[in-house]
Amino acid sequence: MARFITIEGGEGAGKSTAQRFIADRLAERGITTVQTREPGGTPLAEAIRQTLLSVDGEAPVEMTELLLVFAARAQHLAKVIEPALSRGDWVLSDRFTDATYAYQGAARGLSTATILHLEQLVQGGRQPDKVLILDLPPEIGMARARSRGELDRFEREDHDFYERVRAGYLMRAEAMPERYSVIDAGQALPQVESALTAEIEGWFDER
Ligand SMILES: Nc1ncnc2c1ncn2[C@@H]1O[C@H](COP(=O)(O)OP(=O)(O)OP(=O)(O)O)[C@@H](O)[C@H]1O
Ligand SMILES: [Mg+2]
Repeated sequence: MARFITIEGGEGAGKSTAQRFIADRLAERGITTVQTREPGGTPLAEAIRQTLLSVDGEAPVEMTELLLVFAARAQHLAKVIEPALSRGDWVLSDRFTDATYAYQGAARGLSTATILHLEQLVQGGRQPDKVLILDLPPEIGMARARSRGELDRFEREDHDFYERVRAGYLMRAEAMPERYSVIDAGQALPQVESALTAEIEGWFDER
């Protein structure tokens, strides 16, 4: 049965909305969840997030960005994710390492081998039990995200960047279909919620 769930997708795909929906459905089944996000999830990791998203001052080069993402992840794993899983709680993380493969890898151009190296260093064998990819054309997601105001450093990237992010996610899902579910996030919310409900039911059927 799934316990460590990560929710992935581009800007405005509906990750936060899906996270709340899944937490509510699991609560109905008597399951305690920890809802968290990356980069971030602890005070130090959230400070790293601020640095990563900031549009002021010096922009990090690709490798600095990658190392900051994994620095935040090490803290998040040690302080939040591993303790929660040890207690028997479920963890719902808004983004995790698939975002690194999509953003720093597919979109920024760092190699899969480099990311894999850091993944193994930071995570050991820890992997999500299920990865939900909320897939939609980037322009739809950006239109949703933009209605929230000030754009962060990633949201200022161009359309091609977000096409590469999307393709990066889909490539991961195709390579590891047993762990990944791709959800059509371009649909209206009730349809997305039906897809999420079906997904959740599937986790319990697996037992
Ligand atoms: N299926 C949907 N159809 C239309 N609007 C949606 C849908 N899902 C979410 N929204 C709306 O789109 C906006 C972005 O959704 P949400 O914050 O869940 O996305 P996100 O992936 O978490 O975004 P971000 O990457 O910026 O954190 C919100 O205003 C939300 O209410
Ligand atoms: Mg969000």
